[in-house]
Amino acid sequence: MISQYQESLLLPGRTYQSGPVDTTYEDVLENIDSGIMLFDEEGVISFVNKQMYGMLELTRHSLVGCTISHLLFNVRLSRFKKKQVLQSYKEMVYKGKSNYEFLDEYGRYWKVTLCCGEQMKGCYLFTVKEISDYKLIEQTAYQNDSLAMLGKLSASIAHEIRNPLTAIRGFIQLLHPHLQQLGKQEYGKIILAEIDRANDIIHEFLTSSKPSVPQVGMIPVSALLKEVVLLTESEALMKGCQINLHPFQEGDMMISGDVKQMKQVVLNMIRNAMEAVADRVDGLMGKIEVGAHKEGSEVRMFISDNGKGMDIRTLDRLFNPFFTTKENGTGLGLSVSDRIIKNHGGCISVSSRVNEGTHFVISLPLIH
Ligand SMILES: Nc1ncnc2c1ncn2[C@@H]1O[C@H](COP(=O)(O)OP(=O)(O)OP(=O)(O)O)[C@@H](O)[C@H]1O
Ligand SMILES: [Mg+2]
Repeated sequence: MISQYQESLLLPGRTYQSGPVDTTYEDVLENIDSGIMLFDEEGVISFVNKQMYGMLELTRHSLVGCTISHLLFNVRLSRFKKKQVLQSYKEMVYKGKSNYEFLDEYGRYWKVTLCCGEQMKGCYLFTVKEISDYKLIEQTAYQNDSLAMLGKLSASIAHEIRNPLTAIRGFIQLLHPHLQQLGKQEYGKIILAEIDRANDIIHEFLTSSKPSVPQVGMIPVSALLKEVVLLTESEALMKGCQINLHPFQEGDMMISGDVKQMKQVVLNMIRNAMEAVADRVDGLMGKIEVGAHKEGSEVRMFISDNGKGMDIRTLDRLFNPFFTTKENGTGLGLSVSDRIIKNHGGCISVSSRVNEGTHFVISLPLIH
């Protein structure tokens, strides 16, 4: 028989079978992606679906016929779950909130909703749904917003500092003959050098946090890697580590893009590798391997090191702007590199093991 309520859900003009159907309403409730628990007017659990008893890590049998106090005294219900049940019950039944969110012991977010009142005829219907994905999107949107704001703010401050520096530089130059008379021309030189250094830092910050429009040209991969290795070799030697540039097997591979930006990417990665090698605790000789090979229509440039490696938490956040584990790091190196490579139609992949090392691969389309 179809009840009055079921009848009100029927579509006009369609024929419905009044006898048993293959999928019952109970099947639907049983398999819905939310947990459902119904308390009758006496406060006794009269229905609980698979999701709900699975979430509570109990059986249906141990729940149906219980009151909330029975449930809270159930020895099989973990301490965490008891706390969550009690808190949800308090927030919703006593404080009258229509929904309540909580974080469980596995780091998942849940939302509990209560439906009661006249339409429930004295019964209380609790539904629980996992909302971890929505929370992640919400948090990422919030983080991106604040990072974008912080980025803009620091870029505008950096930009504005350049103007007074230019004025100071000009006046120091005007004072130069007077300093010479006093025999203190050295002071002038130091001030100028320091102003230039500050200007360089600002310039680097402004260009690294906002990649300029690429000046596209043909770039031979071997020349690109040779040049960056040459630039970093002496710094590496001073840090007691060796950079090994692998011979190129496949003639000259060409890519298209902005040579300065490409150099910046490889430089960022070699610098990170040098820092990772220096941070290794066992004092093993640091080795950085650099090279490139062809893979179908792409070139794969790699930068590997036997440095301190990364754990999964670092790997997860590696390309986030301002993410750094270094005392003096800005955390912009890899986020900017990632943006540059994506703008050039490529991608960066990474694999790493703590205390063993890290392997970065930059894939870019080849030009024939
Ligand atoms: N080769 C590597 N080995 C181990 N950890 C690395 C390596 N490369 C990057 N990381 C980790 O990724 C984080 C982010 O790197 P990124 O280059 O973006 O910023 P940074 O190096 O911390 O700062 P900056 O580049 O401004 O000096 C680093 O702080 C470090 O924890
Ligand atoms: Mg870096």
